[in-house]
Amino acid sequence: MSDPIGQVRAAFQAEASAQTLDPPALELERLERLRVRFLGKKGDINALMRQLGKLPKDQRRDFGQAVNALKTEVNDALLTLKAAANTRAEAAALDAGWLDPTLPTHATDARVDGLPAMGHQHPITSMLDTVIDHFTGLGFEVASGPEIEDTWHNFDALNIPKDHPARDMWDTFYTTQGEVPRTHTSSVQIRTMQTQTPPIRVISPGKCFRNETIDATHLAAFNQCEGLYIDKGVSLGHLKATLEGWIQRLFGPDLQIRFRPAFYPFVEPGLDLDAQCFLCHGDGHNDDGVACPVCRTKGWLEVIPCGMVHPNVLRNCGIDPDIWSGFAFGMGFDRLVMLQHGIDDLRRLYNGRLDLVRQL
Ligand code: DAH
Repeated sequence: MSDPIGQVRAAFQAEASAQTLDPPALELERLERLRVRFLGKKGDINALMRQLGKLPKDQRRDFGQAVNALKTEVNDALLTLKAAANTRAEAAALDAGWLDPTLPTHATDARVDGLPAMGHQHPITSMLDTVIDHFTGLGFEVASGPEIEDTWHNFDALNIPKDHPARDMWDTFYTTQGEVPRTHTSSVQIRTMQTQTPPIRVISPGKCFRNETIDATHLAAFNQCEGLYIDKGVSLGHLKATLEGWIQRLFGPDLQIRFRPAFYPFVEPGLDLDAQCFLCHGDGHNDDGVACPVCRTKGWLEVIPCGMVHPNVLRNCGIDPDIWSGFAFGMGFDRLVMLQHGIDDLRRLYNGRLDLVRQL
């Protein structure tokens, strides 16, 4: 029995699987010829369709469906082959050096000062690059960990036992399986100390999540960067010098900073590095006596919580606190960007409006 659809399918498959041509431009021409031959107005598939009228009525439906299926099949196969040829063409163009994907767009709808808008980094991304550049320059490596953590890494190992009130310091989301979208990047300290032997020097930037009431300085999803240095004889002096150097790199030598005792269960002693408020310059009020909305009259902003790694934390990770000591810090990235650019409301960085980020 003759099978006209099968014959066309076999003919197409034979052609399609024939050797692809070089250069890709020739291959694209070959594929276009195939398209015309099989899918064109006078092509083989339309010829099949025209046979439909000559068939007995009860066969027309099946035949029509089978021809349509073949049409889709041929179309999909040609698209796949075309995409492969285009990829090869782009790679060849890049190799030859005449395709410059960094050239500005000609888009007319995205213009700044009459010129096509060039894309640029979001300020949070450039802060990320600066952090990595600075700390890798000091010999730190970049470590990462999962955003959905187990409670042991997020809390217990960090000396925050279950049912201890210290856990309330973090407004925590829980998944229905009892895991936590990590409340801080400190969990990466633990993962690093479990898998590396000291000396250890890592930073770990990443997203964190808290059940916060959102306001000018708090978000439910935000960016943090953890730092950890474990070695023999590491002291508070090393911590202070390291963070002072970092703040100076970011803001220059004139920004006033101070270290203040603070409680974090995973460090002893614990500290907060505060920077003078960029808006009221430490006065707490503006010239008319109105309370500063950024620091809420404190005159200072908490920028980098830090401290000396608690011996319990070292022990939890199998590191002997009688031999090794270290410091850790966890900076709110978004805060640093606020400080860097004098932004009074964190939400501005995430609302997707270009008028702010274009200024930065
Ligand atoms: N993980 C703390 C938080 O998110 C911040 C922090 C405080 C990190 C002190 C540290 C540290 O490494 O030493 O609130």
